[in-house]
Amino acid sequence: MIKNFENMESKKSPLRGDLEGLKSPSGGFRGLQVAFITGGTRGIGLGIATELAKAGFNLAVNGIREEILVKSVLEELSSFGVSVAYFRGDVSKKEDRQQMVDAIHDRFGKVNVLVNNAGIAPPERKDILEATEESFQYVLDVNLQGPYFLTQLVANKMIESKKQFPEEFFCIINVSSVSATVASVNRGEYCISKAGIAMATKLWASRLGEFDIPVYEIQPGVIRTDMTSGVQEKYDRLFQEGMAIQQRWGKPSDIGKVAAAMATGSMPYSTGQVVKVDGGMTIPRL
Ligand SMILES: NC(=O)c1ccc[n+]([C@@H]2O[C@H](COP(=O)([O-])OP(=O)(O)OC[C@H]3O[C@@H](n4cnc5c(N)ncnc54)[C@H](OP(=O)(O)O)[C@@H]3O)[C@@H](O)[C@H]2O)c1
Repeated sequence: MIKNFENMESKKSPLRGDLEGLKSPSGGFRGLQVAFITGGTRGIGLGIATELAKAGFNLAVNGIREEILVKSVLEELSSFGVSVAYFRGDVSKKEDRQQMVDAIHDRFGKVNVLVNNAGIAPPERKDILEATEESFQYVLDVNLQGPYFLTQLVANKMIESKKQFPEEFFCIINVSSVSATVASVNRGEYCISKAGIAMATKLWASRLGEFDIPVYEIQPGVIRTDMTSGVQEKYDRLFQEGMAIQQRWGKPSDIGKVAAAMATGSMPYSTGQVVKVDGGMTIPRL
């Protein structure tokens, strides 16, 4: 079920009144470029939505919660002077994906930037000697099959939009994880889903090159969100012990700032590339 949450009027926008005529780095105009962020109302997705709102993008944000529960978040995003709409839907469900993409195009006319961010951890961390097929299927559906086929839907629309708006910048950003390359034997299905996204980045970058639509990937390290709230003490200790070169938890805004650089065309002549935002955690050290 999809509900389209119409944006509210901004009251305290720093950008309001400046929207007309302001050129974005990609050549589009502020307030006229549209970003679709899955899982965009909390955690990393909200960090990305906030930075893209600051950069002047109109936002289509998705999640699975009732719209009433995310109303204050949508108001906060609207306060940057951009248009914000909520599209409720489960990325793992084919019908939801189709309905969302149709509804977003009805509402905004195009999607310049797709951010595949929504994702889940396994409901239970279980050693791979014991983990279930049900959990594997569930995690793969949400973290891999969902974004892979959402990309297919949006990419086809982008190819058409690119003909209509040849001067505008279009791109796709996948949020995977350091788990795409770092093995955790108590959440194998998560690691495999993220390794799959890393290949999806390369595949879509290769396929969309001829249409001048770059595809990027961000691999976050350990970021303080609801997803990691259950393992806080463990990572507090590991950060203290020097697990990462930069000895602190990552913040959703850390990811958001990198996504904003990608979304505004600030990574020219690159596609299929991975940026690790992990405080140097994955650098092999002696
Ligand atoms: N936190 C980390 O340390 C970390 C590290 C590396 C990678 N990541 C990745 O970063 C992404 C965001 O993680 P997070 O930490 O921000 O997680 P989070 O705080 O748990 O938020 C997850 C978001 O995804 C949405 N979502 C979950 N299942 C969905 C579905 N089936 N369809 C649509 N939306 C769905 C949720 O929607 P509702 O709000 O409506 O529930 C929520 O907005 C995930 O892909 C995760 O794997 C996280």
